[in-house]
Amino acid sequence: MLTRQITKLLYIYENLKSMSDIKINHPLLSYNTFGISATAAYFIEIISEHQLEELSRNPVFVKNEVLILGGGSNILFTKDFPGLILHANIQGIEVTAENDSTVWVKAGSGVSWDEFVSYAVSNDWGGIENLSAIPGSVGAAPVQNIGAYGTEVKDVIEKVEGYDLLLERVLTFSADECHFGYRNSIFKTEYKNRLLITHVYFRLSKPPHVLITKYRNVAEKIDDLPEKTIASMRDLIIRIREAKLPDYRVLGNAGSFFKNPIIHAVVADRLRASFPDVPLYPDLNKMLKVSAAWLIEKSGCKSLRMGNAATHTQQPLVLVNLGSATGKEILALSAHIQKTVKEKFGILLVPEVNIY
Ligand code: EPU
Repeated sequence: MLTRQITKLLYIYENLKSMSDIKINHPLLSYNTFGISATAAYFIEIISEHQLEELSRNPVFVKNEVLILGGGSNILFTKDFPGLILHANIQGIEVTAENDSTVWVKAGSGVSWDEFVSYAVSNDWGGIENLSAIPGSVGAAPVQNIGAYGTEVKDVIEKVEGYDLLLERVLTFSADECHFGYRNSIFKTEYKNRLLITHVYFRLSKPPHVLITKYRNVAEKIDDLPEKTIASMRDLIIRIREAKLPDYRVLGNAGSFFKNPIIHAVVADRLRASFPDVPLYPDLNKMLKVSAAWLIEKSGCKSLRMGNAATHTQQPLVLVNLGSATGKEILALSAHIQKTVKEKFGILLVPEVNIY
């Protein structure tokens, strides 16, 4: 009898304890790189996986829609979020194994992605230097399989570990099980808002490194590098990005707003017949990737402004917040671009950014 009462009291205590970590009507301005003012009805910072076991029994968790947020660099809030936001903020970087050519590194999902890249480069671990200066967190990197300048994060991921909020246990996904695709993975589909990624395990290379230089912007400038090291590659990538992509701390944005559409060779041929200069890049199985930036530019939407939302002058695929844009204003601009591109080219631009 006494044991039952103690157990019940402990249960109530645990619930109250985790309740106290939940913030109410929490401002999201500093949690999204678009710089949109919105609130979350409930918000909790997750700094350890142990919190998640307690949380799954909490009434606020049980009764509300849940959104898992990483660095907030790929999200557009168009209204206040009515449910519970879990902010994945688990820290720590540790080497789990190494041999002469490879180092295996485990990183917490809340580590800033670029701090991780910088740490790797300063230790002379190669493989992610081309992914320098991408905003966001380590945990968000596999969700959309971040990619830039000829590298995708899937190339260096060994496994991903997370807490399944439905099954209430830790799951591990091998790289194959992550079902990585172009800006896609199982964490964006089946496990969306269900798996909170706690750690990502990387396989990085030790010197001598093989630099990835095939991307046009990189290939053009590679000979100017004083030395062919991953550190100078990182500097080059940062310079290329700075010239084209706005800094979200100055102009709110979430990187590319749309994916580059992947079209069938037949459609591509038809497009090329009418627009011989259309940039097309071969993809898998007779499919081709068409430049979304080009489609936007050619449909007259480059340097377009609607209220406080605009397309970035150097790269129209990036939508920017000119100051105090609302999420709805950004959404209206994106809908206008979709409609204009569809009318001119018959191609639907699909957002890469998560819209709430
Ligand atoms: N282009 C134009 N007009 C412009 C700018 C670009 O026509 O004003 C065309 C050109 O044809 C150019 C092509 O776009 O050759 C490629 O431009 P860029 O190098 O910027 O690449 P992207 O395909 O537009 C992708 C990623 C970026 C990544 C860069 C570099 C997607 C959706 N975006 O952009 O990733 O940084 O390649 O690898 O795949 C992100 O995902 O948020 C992101 C910024």
